[in-house]
Amino acid sequence: MIPSRFVRQSLFMVCLCIIVACANISVSSEYEPFVGQEGKDVIWVPTCQVLVDQMLNMAKVTPQDYVIDLGSGDGRLVITAAKRGARAMGIEYNPDMVALSKHNAAKEGVTDKAQFIQEDIFESDFSQATVITMFLLEEINLKLRPKILNLKPGTRVVSNSFTMREWKADKTFDVDDNKNCSDYSTAYFWIVPAKVEGTWNLPQGELTLKQSFQTFSGTFKSGANLLPVTNGKLSGDLISFSVGNVKYTGRVSGRTMQGTYESGGSTTQWDAAQIGKGS
Ligand SMILES: C[S@@+](CC[C@H](N)C(=O)[O-])C[C@H]1O[C@@H](n2cnc3c(N)ncnc32)[C@H](O)[C@@H]1O
Repeated sequence: MIPSRFVRQSLFMVCLCIIVACANISVSSEYEPFVGQEGKDVIWVPTCQVLVDQMLNMAKVTPQDYVIDLGSGDGRLVITAAKRGARAMGIEYNPDMVALSKHNAAKEGVTDKAQFIQEDIFESDFSQATVITMFLLEEINLKLRPKILNLKPGTRVVSNSFTMREWKADKTFDVDDNKNCSDYSTAYFWIVPAKVEGTWNLPQGELTLKQSFQTFSGTFKSGANLLPVTNGKLSGDLISFSVGNVKYTGRVSGRTMQGTYESGGSTTQWDAAQIGKGS
């Protein structure tokens, strides 16, 4: 009787020691980053949660989206997007931050939706994203800009604090002063525009367009008439422009586009095919 009780007590103490040791290991191995710590191209500063929420609101993230955060830090944008039901991935160079993000995703119960990979954003493939989020630097945004502009038209992009310079934001948001997010509290939002620069053939004439990001201008040649194209705008693959008093709206699909125009109170269908690419 006594030896078996002694054995049970000993076993209990051994188990207790193992549990305490494991708990200590898991606590001490939980990496604690500090604001301002070095990153490969950008230091780590977390986006405050109120702006995280707003960035995802601006992009209108839904469960149909695939959100990719470039330089994902502790994973907060990815985890918040996953909690909204979206599939989300963080690309982060610092392996300790990747491990911490996975740990945070597990704590929040979103490991099925939130994925993290240790990679350099300049080497990674984010072409499948429907929403890109980032908190980098303007010079880094500019280096990434050509790749971002080549994403599928309609891809939404949100940046904390840093612009894309000449590619003006479609929307900007500033967090209220009283929301405890005084630094890095502005978000910029863009929609990747379709590419329309070049010459387009319409049954009524020829459209020649010069594009600058989400705006464009040009001319419309119909017989001997040459009219300016004004108010040219793109929102993803949605296009609108005016030729004289006639307002065209439509949708771009690769090298074709179609829609309707309004003139003299009536609505007429139009379509166009690209016959020459721009420079
Ligand atoms: C300003 S923090 C933003 C973190 C997070 N996106 C957020 O908004 O809370 C930038 C992050 O980018 C990471 N980073 C810097 N250069 C990188 C690179 N070339 N590839 C991947 N991650 C990078 C840093 O380690 C850091 O975690």
